[in-house]
Amino acid sequence: MSNIRNFCIIAHIDHGKSTLADRLLEYTGTISKREMKEQILDGMELERERGITIKAKAVRMNYTDKNGNPYVLNLIDTPGHVDFTYEVSRALAACEGAILVIDATQGVEAQTLANTMLAKNANLKIIPVINKIDLPTADVDSAYEQMKEGLDVDAEPILASAKEGIGISEIVDSIVANVPPAVVNSDEPLSALIFDSFYDSYRGVIVIVRVFDGKIKKGMKVRFIASNAEYEVLEVGYMKLKPVEFDSLSSGDVGYVVAGIKDIHDIKIGDTITESARPTKHPHAGYKEIHPFVFAGLYPNSTSEYDGLKMALEKLKLSDSSLIYFPETSVALGFGFRCGFLGSLHLEIVKERLEREFGLSLLVTAPNVVYKVKTKGKYITIDNPARFPNNADIEEIWEPYVEATIICPVDYLGAILELCQKRRGTQTQMKYMNTKIVVLKYHLPLAEIIVGFYDALKSVSKGYASFDYEHTAEQQGDLVKLEIMINSEVVDAFSVITHKDKAQTSAHYLTEKLRGIIPRHMFEIPIQAKVNNKIIARETISAMRKDVLAKCYGGDITRKRKLLEKQKEGKRKMRQFGRVEIPPEAFVAVLKID
Ligand code: GTP
Repeated sequence: MSNIRNFCIIAHIDHGKSTLADRLLEYTGTISKREMKEQILDGMELERERGITIKAKAVRMNYTDKNGNPYVLNLIDTPGHVDFTYEVSRALAACEGAILVIDATQGVEAQTLANTMLAKNANLKIIPVINKIDLPTADVDSAYEQMKEGLDVDAEPILASAKEGIGISEIVDSIVANVPPAVVNSDEPLSALIFDSFYDSYRGVIVIVRVFDGKIKKGMKVRFIASNAEYEVLEVGYMKLKPVEFDSLSSGDVGYVVAGIKDIHDIKIGDTITESARPTKHPHAGYKEIHPFVFAGLYPNSTSEYDGLKMALEKLKLSDSSLIYFPETSVALGFGFRCGFLGSLHLEIVKERLEREFGLSLLVTAPNVVYKVKTKGKYITIDNPARFPNNADIEEIWEPYVEATIICPVDYLGAILELCQKRRGTQTQMKYMNTKIVVLKYHLPLAEIIVGFYDALKSVSKGYASFDYEHTAEQQGDLVKLEIMINSEVVDAFSVITHKDKAQTSAHYLTEKLRGIIPRHMFEIPIQAKVNNKIIARETISAMRKDVLAKCYGGDITRKRKLLEKQKEGKRKMRQFGRVEIPPEAFVAVLKID
């Protein structure tokens, strides 16, 4: 029987996954206390700050039990956020077991439920752990009840404190005893599942695999089945804290493969690697091409940053294959890029990385989903509201939907039902996990949750509700394009697609908001909202002579100069549109439409 155990840790965000991973690394001597920096598995600086593990990673640990039997424990780290569900499912496919961590002070939350479902679908052995028992607010009984009722997990949980190191040896013993040993088929043709990849500037793309059948070794010619790319393997090894080169990876193993891959497009998470000369008959099932769901325009704040943004996107793309982008020109914003993301969190992460790692200052337009539109008998896909055909030419509009799971205390139920209703949701399930906690399922248009939904949910539930979703089939919607005209010209970056019933409210909101943000000019500026060439809202900014020097006539000259410079500075940041200057905040206002 194999001594390899491949497992992952699944949890809702902040329930203690990374802290527990650290303790396991310490306990197995994979890393000494001295080497232990906080949360080793969260490599990127940004991840550490946000506390979100974005990309799955794997670490190999060696462990000898008290009878002297040696084991290899491969811990596969999974991303914790809804945008990355597909990556989670691929990481789970590489395991035989899952440690399910539940925070004793929070109980079961939406991602606990979603990830447990994924783990069950992947037939993983689940080892429940109730964490943070050191805290005075820990309620082990309630967490246990929610686990049994809400998750349908029967096993006796291990009580732990990842922070204080309580329950760690029990967890390791349970992994050895309960996670099914990896099945070893070393003589079969190679079949290795890719569940992660990252970019190394010296060695190109490095892929992380779980070998199911056969062996992969240096010099072997291999083929990536879905992308049909062929490479020669240059190096294989195990991921300790750093990669450690090894002769080969065999059936059951988890490790890395270097093959001089320069094009990240050849690497698809969920794809199978096989030997070119002796291909497998068992490519891994469940491979899916992933497409971006949410689009937004990214524009540099000054035109001189355009080339910098282009280079930064190229670089980022190397380590993030789910990011797509292409050049776009906007009348209002100039040259920029239209980018596709897995969800709104992915968008935020990319924006922050561009600003922080590449020092750019960016303007992001309101995100939108991808619509399928039937016009003149043909279906077209539209990822930019500005490119929407005229409402009159549209025969059908299909929009993406999600099945959302919301878990919340009963006290906030009313407010949450109202929120979902407002966002065009249809309830499909309401189930009590116990007398205090409810699980809601809603069918919601994706467009309604990508802007502000999560924040609204947190605010109406005082932070107690948790949320997760998966994509479902598109549905036809009664949608219209709402355009904003400033000084009688349409500003493309303000165009939004909205439900017919919400058009009027959004029109008022936007025109009023813009009136407050756009400064007075020397002439009167009408701000109008139109749908189907019909003006449905209007605000006017009255004319004013803006004389910054008026305040200090006759005053000292340095003060004047300072004021003039300040005015110039203010101008630089403005977007010139026709004769009107629009401050960047205006573009952010579109983001806030409810
Ligand atoms: P993500 O990476 O965001 O998914 O979070 P995570 O599940 O990895 O949680 P993480 O390990 O980062 O822990 C979240 C917070 O809870 C941190 O501040 C930890 O120090 C704290 N924490 C984790 N385990 C325990 C525990 O057993 N007791 C106490 N008191 N705090 C804990």
